[in-house]
Amino acid sequence: AGNGRFIVGGNWKCNGTRASVKTLIEELNAGELRDVDVVVAPPFLFLDEATETLKAPYEVAAQNCWVEPGLVDPTHHYDSDTGAFTGEVSAEMLEDLRIPWVILGHSERRNLFNESNEFVGKKVAHARFHGLSVIVCVGETLEERESGKTMDVIFAQLKAVATEIDDKEHSSWGSQVVIAYEPIWAIGTGKVATPEQVQDVHAKIRQWLADNVSEEVAKATRIQYGGSVNAGNCSELARLSDIDGFLVGGASLKGDDFVKICNTSA
Ligand code: G3P
Repeated sequence: AGNGRFIVGGNWKCNGTRASVKTLIEELNAGELRDVDVVVAPPFLFLDEATETLKAPYEVAAQNCWVEPGLVDPTHHYDSDTGAFTGEVSAEMLEDLRIPWVILGHSERRNLFNESNEFVGKKVAHARFHGLSVIVCVGETLEERESGKTMDVIFAQLKAVATEIDDKEHSSWGSQVVIAYEPIWAIGTGKVATPEQVQDVHAKIRQWLADNVSEEVAKATRIQYGGSVNAGNCSELARLSDIDGFLVGGASLKGDDFVKICNTSA
């Protein structure tokens, strides 16, 4: 375990029916959580239901939100982002619905929906402007890892966020911006990164924050690992010195397993 309070996210991705969501929420509510922050991210359509029915300490996250790509300074954009953006959901709407968290920059958004580093940075800043806490995902492809580019890729992703939110009066890192390191080759593949690989990247992310944002932020920022985490492999990973939690995909759809993962750190 690392520096801050352990935080586990459950990213349901594009999964769920009315019936399965009801069952999963019942299973989660029946589980006993120890001393841990837990953030559950259902698809937009189920956010309201999750907010209404999940009991504390569960908190709810959206899996994405919108910002105008051309926005020059998102933290000082006082106008609404609500408008002629068919099919999108704005940070302002999430704020209005009292959704406390949003996941941004997931590799599936970056790759399948062509979200650039810069666009993700703007989204993070804009979400912070609307008071949302953010889990921002970073990570490399297998090809990038094999060609020795892992940290270049991650640092560029972090820089795009830092450029937008650093030193801005309405934004902050620390407890409200969590970084999720998700190597793309480990997502949904059953191929979990080794503890050495995870610790190495997490320590370098923290060092980057110390060098490029501040020592204070480097200490306060929680860094999650995501990629084929399950109830069997979570304990070994949770012991690593720079791991502050997990972002879980597949295993977050099974209530019992997810609760086990949440309780790993305790
Ligand atoms: O955001 C979590 C995720 O991408 C990891 O997915 O299914 O490998 O746990 P999974």
